[in-house]
Amino acid sequence: MTKGYKMPKGFLWGGAVAAHQLEGGWDVDGKGVSIADVMTAGRNGVPRKVTDGVKEGEVYPNHWGNDFYHRYPEDDKLFAEMGFKCFRTSIAWTRIFPNGDETAPNEAGLKFYDDLFDDLLSHGIQPVVTLSHFEIPYHLVKAYGGFSNRKMIDFFVRFATVVFDRYKDKVKYWMTFNEINNQTAWSDPHPLLQNSGLQLGADDNWEQAMYQAAHYELVASALAVQAGHAINPDFQIGCMVAMCPIYPLTAKPADVMMAERAMQKRYWFGDVHCLGEYPKWLPKYFERKGFDMDITAADLETLKAGTVDYVGFSYYMSFVTKGRDGDQEYDFKEPDDFVENPYVEKSDWGWQIDPTGLRYAMNWMQDRWHLPQFIVENGFGAYDKKEADGSVHDDYRISYFRDHILAMEEAVALDGVDLIGYTPWGCIDLVSASTGEMAKRYGFIYVDADDNGHGSFDRSKKDSFDWFQQVIASDGEDL
Ligand code: BG6
Repeated sequence: MTKGYKMPKGFLWGGAVAAHQLEGGWDVDGKGVSIADVMTAGRNGVPRKVTDGVKEGEVYPNHWGNDFYHRYPEDDKLFAEMGFKCFRTSIAWTRIFPNGDETAPNEAGLKFYDDLFDDLLSHGIQPVVTLSHFEIPYHLVKAYGGFSNRKMIDFFVRFATVVFDRYKDKVKYWMTFNEINNQTAWSDPHPLLQNSGLQLGADDNWEQAMYQAAHYELVASALAVQAGHAINPDFQIGCMVAMCPIYPLTAKPADVMMAERAMQKRYWFGDVHCLGEYPKWLPKYFERKGFDMDITAADLETLKAGTVDYVGFSYYMSFVTKGRDGDQEYDFKEPDDFVENPYVEKSDWGWQIDPTGLRYAMNWMQDRWHLPQFIVENGFGAYDKKEADGSVHDDYRISYFRDHILAMEEAVALDGVDLIGYTPWGCIDLVSASTGEMAKRYGFIYVDADDNGHGSFDRSKKDSFDWFQQVIASDGEDL
């Protein structure tokens, strides 16, 4: 056993998921089609396909997830047994507004989350809710072009206001857009679709489209923050960034400058969310690139008035980059400008394992944004083997968590980072967002289902279940 540091009283230990990755029930009780519903199963190294609507004969893993929609009472009991104080999930926008542009919400969808939140609360677990987690209504993509269209701001704010109002006495911690900065990898169609509902053609300027969509999302987020605070001043509304610090390969000044620009490009979203304004380098970049952006003076005021209360972030890995000889512009492009880190191991999916990067990132964010932080995702996707007696010996997962939790605790206990809580990703096995696999498992709880949705969907505890239970019971001291 490793000795960790006790976390402060009231620290929110829990777990995290997203509606589309575990609920299933994709077309029940009035739910509409979301972008996750038109993404087929991929595999390790094989990207998911996006179909033009739901097509006969294709495999869509998000249609069944892990069947949480029908089994959540059983799952909530297991979360309570582990000692969870909170549970992060998202509200599927399409359960509330099936097409996204309706004016009246779907009561059956609202009732589902009422029941789920009540059940969690009856176990002493508080729900932590993301509003938009890669599940924009598909109709908004087809009819409006997703967040390339300013009208999306109104649709999102209406959705946010309806759920803020409905759950104002059940949910305190909210987040607006999940991993809003994933779309920094703008040349990959998946983040553009998952984050912003963009489907672009060969003639479109993808990079400009990404910045424009992100701007509308940031305005929508700032308006939602204001609407939420008006409904319940006790709400804590955060942003959610995918935090992967980017290191310079060497001390060569060009490598260091490239890494600085890489961090600026990946985290300007957080600057706007937390500080309420664009960083100075970015308008210069737009100018140099000839991007004609729709950013109004009223938008800038909105951004200033709608800054977030805390920084929600995911942490899985770090990256490395290097400069290009003779290049003074440092136009870092993700992922092309990433290079290998010779000092860290990788998961089977090539994700770098770097616990110190978590502590580094927490310090970096504290110094830059001066807000409380909430680690709302961290975890290890791995192939698990279920033994004949039903057990799963996932010591590799325990070791990943032990190292990362210790780094987190050092950031709090030794560096003074103000941290609200820690919710490991995929606390119960669910469908992977990038590959659509069940085989990329994150859970403390095993779900008996394969990539094609075959299996009993029965739940069982992995070794990591007992381990995390002991971590929570000791408030982080027994790792
Ligand atoms: C984050 C997302 O990117 O990482 C989750 O917020 C996702 O939705 C998680 O599932 C892990 O990624 P993946 O691709 O392994 O599921």
